[in-house]
Amino acid sequence: MNDMYREYILDHYRNPRNYGRLEEPDIHAEDSNPLCGDQVRLDLKIDNGHVSAVRFSGRGCAISQASASMLTEMIDGRPLDEVKQLRREDILDALGIEINPARQKCALLSLKVLFMALSGGAAPDELDEL
Ligand code: FES
Repeated sequence: MNDMYREYILDHYRNPRNYGRLEEPDIHAEDSNPLCGDQVRLDLKIDNGHVSAVRFSGRGCAISQASASMLTEMIDGRPLDEVKQLRREDILDALGIEINPARQKCALLSLKVLFMALSGGAAPDELDEL
């Protein structure tokens, strides 16, 4: 594993950005990785078609929590139209290291939760079929 990216992931894990809950989120969702039970919840405020605030909470491995932290930075302040275009490659690129197939559910849990929140239900098949 590349040391720089490992440090980057550990920094997000130890000092998660936008961690916590919003008091009255406009949308929220949570899900767990069925393999381990680790959880991520996302709370979003939407204002004028933009993500005006975002928080995540949860517990789990460094990759699941660091990717959730990175995801909040990626979507904070962004137009919903752009947020909806995010794909698994965006998260995997942000992590910056090769994520083996066994850990991809860890890396993509927060993106799945984001799509659940945006759709008010299920995540797209692309993410369910990891
Ligand atoms: Fe549970 Fe990674 S081991 S999400």
